Amino acid sequence: MFGGMESKITDAHRALVRRAFAEPGEFATSPLYQALSRTVAADDALLELAAAGRPGQYPTFLFFGAVQQVLLTGAGDDPLAAYYPSLLPDGVAARPAEEAGPALVAFCARHADALRAVIGSRLVQTNQVQRSLGLRFALAAIADEIGDRPVHLIEVGASAGLNLRFDRYGYRLGGRRFGEPDSPVQLVAELHGDGELPDLDALPALASVRGVDLNPVDVLDPDDRQWLRALVWPEHHDQRILLTAALDLVAGDPPPIVRGDAIDVLPGLAAGLPDGEPRVVFHSATRMHVPAERRAAFDGAIASLGETGPLWWLSVEDVPDPDPRTDRSRGGAGLQLRGPDGEARVLAVVEGHLRWVETLPGV
Ligand SMILES: C[S@@+](CC[C@H](N)C(=O)[O-])C[C@H]1O[C@@H](n2cnc3c(N)ncnc32)[C@H](O)[C@@H]1O
Repeated sequence: MFGGMESKITDAHRALVRRAFAEPGEFATSPLYQALSRTVAADDALLELAAAGRPGQYPTFLFFGAVQQVLLTGAGDDPLAAYYPSLLPDGVAARPAEEAGPALVAFCARHADALRAVIGSRLVQTNQVQRSLGLRFALAAIADEIGDRPVHLIEVGASAGLNLRFDRYGYRLGGRRFGEPDSPVQLVAELHGDGELPDLDALPALASVRGVDLNPVDVLDPDDRQWLRALVWPEHHDQRILLTAALDLVAGDPPPIVRGDAIDVLPGLAAGLPDGEPRVVFHSATRMHVPAERRAAFDGAIASLGETGPLWWLSVEDVPDPDPRTDRSRGGAGLQLRGPDGEARVLAVVEGHLRWVETLPGV
């Protein structure tokens, strides 16, 4: 361990974390994180660091976020920075990702305390503004069911609230444009599938908008903004630009976000909603961060929003369930709906970061 410290994690925990780094399927679009994951998986001291996060936190996202955060906040002249496309001036090529391992090991030894402080205190809060497209698509798909009644929109795991301002952005999908054409935030995605594309401009009116998060990210706080930037993978320049534009836009009118665990907060929030009025709850890449033994309580708290009015429960978390496609080669996550009748449906299949949408026949 760094500095001769005793190991604080069990063998079973270390094995779990090692597996996460040994099979980093999530980093298909980050050659650097793929290469560095292999370095971490083979190094007990790095695994120890990566395992120091709060329960339920994905060690890979948290560890690499912390490394980039320390690089961005004072250690930018470390040799490791030469492998990060995000840290180099325009026109300077990064060194080959597969050679970065030794630089990471040395960096972690030099900055172990700073890394441990970030990993122990921060959460994986990546706020992907592109996921607003999933919310908008789903709202358009259920607009007829909701009718002309304004809805109360609640996002669970809202992070900085970027998705809650989905109505301030422009969208381009399948050659069609929707939303605000002059917005500084323009979201572009590929369209696949044989299903019908709903009119993304025909949306239910909003009666209220609010988020819930364990630890709301303050769009006005420079440290919080920095942490969101640190969570963007080094190769994703476009995403970094989009994130900054969205943070600036949302900072002009941040949505209210209630601090707390959804399990504790939602029942009270449900009681405060006007009786009988329609409500939509949305969560993306959030349930996966809830410790497995608390997921039933998480689902129950969300369902409680439907006790005093019709609830449309939308999510993007996991593989489609059920997956109605005959050809599943594209992969993707389900844009899921559970309607007021309790029926679960897949509205579309989407890439996890909403880079593409696959429509489904008959939906
Ligand atoms: C990976 S981020 C995703 C943020 C956003 N939904 C998106 O798609 O861009 C997950 C967010 O869920 C929050 N979160 C995780 N568990 C939670 C819980 N039990 N209650 C409320 N928020 C939670 C985290 O704090 C974090 O901000």
